[in-house]
Amino acid sequence: MSRQKPQIIGVDADQPSAEALEPAAQALRSGRLVAFPTETVYGLGANALDEAAVGRIFAAKARPATNPLIVHIADLAEVDEIVADWPALATKLADAFWPGPLTLVLPRRAGVPASVTASLDTVAVRMPAHPVALELIRQAGVPVAAPSANRYTEVSPTRAEHVLDSLGEAVDIIVDAGPTKVGVESTVLSLVGERPEILRAGMVTCEDIAKVAPRVVYAGPIQPDEQASRPSPGLARKHYAPRADLRVIDDIDTLLALVGAAESAAWVVVELFEGTGPRGPVVVMGDDPDAYAEKLYDVLRDLDKRGVDTILVEQPPQGGRWRAIHDRLSRAAT
Ligand code: TXA
Ligand code: MG
Repeated sequence: MSRQKPQIIGVDADQPSAEALEPAAQALRSGRLVAFPTETVYGLGANALDEAAVGRIFAAKARPATNPLIVHIADLAEVDEIVADWPALATKLADAFWPGPLTLVLPRRAGVPASVTASLDTVAVRMPAHPVALELIRQAGVPVAAPSANRYTEVSPTRAEHVLDSLGEAVDIIVDAGPTKVGVESTVLSLVGERPEILRAGMVTCEDIAKVAPRVVYAGPIQPDEQASRPSPGLARKHYAPRADLRVIDDIDTLLALVGAAESAAWVVVELFEGTGPRGPVVVMGDDPDAYAEKLYDVLRDLDKRGVDTILVEQPPQGGRWRAIHDRLSRAAT
């Protein structure tokens, strides 16, 4: 018996046709799973208000029930269905960054299924800056819970092919609008503590947020001994990981030692230092953090496909827009 799943629907990234998206919107309304592009990565969506549909997300990803989901909306009015208390600061942040790669953690409304929030009394919400995501959510007429559309701990998908490779027939429909632009997951900002706190770094930086929320804090990537005490269970350290061993290299001696030891090493560099790398694939990422983020996951998946056993990454520059990249590389290296 041949299975037809998943159905793949190709749409224009900038001007998706409402007609082409209708089967996907219908699938969401009827409790099925739809992978769709956002500006960051592809999400695995289900009706956020349908407990059974949300359960299917966790099953498809083999994701622990303790890891809460982000609810995606297309219209600010939809927050009323999801969020119990929307502070003035949230309005300011939404004005500044939505639609966009910023997720806000706020008190949860009772109607949101406990599985969405992993039984926390808070809920994560964002309005993605992607015409396809916005049109799909609007047409579905429901808020859409969506984690990244990959199996648990894998690198997030930035192309429809990645979703197919990772989830296969566990997903009903994949909406394909080509590669995503931002390339790493949204910044997660909690507004329920004493001060606004960044729980996950993203391409909306601490400095960007500070212009609107001057008291914002960012404690930095979670450390192994803090896992139990930090507020976002999804921030477990091993995450976003390729199959190959990944090492971030900040000095030439370590590089030379590792190159000597590796069977097949790839070398991912900001800029190429002539003659310093291992024999094997060399990927030049360039020194623009936005371009680096955009291609990072695609590069890691591609190197896995090529079967390299070690990925050596030249340490990128520090600070600002590089922070999310350092964060993901350090998790990938765990
Ligand atoms: O860019 C993104 O955020 C993508 C696209 C699809 O929107 N989504 C994504 O989802 O990366 P996911 O599930 O892979 O990551 C969601 C993150 C996790 O770190 C999770 O722990 C955190 O958001 N999160 C969700 N709800 C939370 C809550 N109530 N409190 C604290 N953290 C929460
Ligand atoms: Mg994820």
